Amino acid sequence: MTGAGISVAAGIPDFRTPGTGLYDNLQKYNLPHPTAIFEIDYLKTTPEPFFVLAKEMYPGNFKPTRCHYFIKLLHEKGVLLRNFTQNIDTLERVANIPAEKLVEAHGSFAEAHCINCHQEADKEWIKGEIFSNKVPRCSSCGGITKPDIVFFGEGLPKRFFELMSQDFPKCDLLLVIGTSLQVQPFASLIHHVGLTTPRLLINNEIVGNTDLQMVMRGFTQGFRFDMDGNYRDVKQIGDLQQSIDMLASLLGWKDDLDALIAKESNTNNNAKY
Ligand code: OAD
Repeated sequence: MTGAGISVAAGIPDFRTPGTGLYDNLQKYNLPHPTAIFEIDYLKTTPEPFFVLAKEMYPGNFKPTRCHYFIKLLHEKGVLLRNFTQNIDTLERVANIPAEKLVEAHGSFAEAHCINCHQEADKEWIKGEIFSNKVPRCSSCGGITKPDIVFFGEGLPKRFFELMSQDFPKCDLLLVIGTSLQVQPFASLIHHVGLTTPRLLINNEIVGNTDLQMVMRGFTQGFRFDMDGNYRDVKQIGDLQQSIDMLASLLGWKDDLDALIAKESNTNNNAKY
């Protein structure tokens, strides 16, 4: 399970880190509240802010990080069941993690549809509209057409729910990397692995922890770091790119990771987006 933290080293800010996160830096858009920029009802009345931001965020200018390539390495070693990502930057695809190994839970810029009649829009056309500072309008009904990023108020892709039920019971080690686990239903995926499956959080801060107050109210579902009876939750707190290097070294795969990055950086021309 991955989130925006894994792309910070690529130069893409995350959402919620105080000061540097996107939600602390949207003043110029005069939003009623920061998350409005990704709310479907707000888009219907005030689409301009999202499309200005979309131009800044558009994939193509960013390169995958060591963490993206570590996930690719897990695939090459035959141990990646799936990468459930919340990221919309498509850096997993740029790192050549095969599409069938990915669940882009919050969608991506790869396709676009009209929010009224759902007509599919041509990828190059919508990119052109966004880069010409226009709000893209559907050629059939005139509705707002946006990249298939999942907004607050929209459902997650069918693939998310299908593969959630299929994959999580099979998972024998859950890695949770670079996410604040604040957004549902993604955050609750950590509960879907079996009760004996170890769960490793690699992040700057502890997230998703069950606190004593929650336990007293009968909620025992989160991580159980530093709690009595924790037999499977492990955390590595600190810069995640360094943590990934440490993990690769412990696995004896540091040279493989370096070789993969060298190979991919030479061949990678970002052509997928
Ligand atoms: P957040 O910004 O909420 O969380 C990112 C997490 O990564 C935080 O816990 C940071 O502390 C951590 N982090 C950042 N840089 C790090 C580093 N170098 N090393 C270690 N940890 C680091 O991002 P997400 O959890 O991905 O929705 O956010 C979930 C969703 O909220 C996003 O998918 C987005 C947003 O609204 C959509 O775009 C639809």
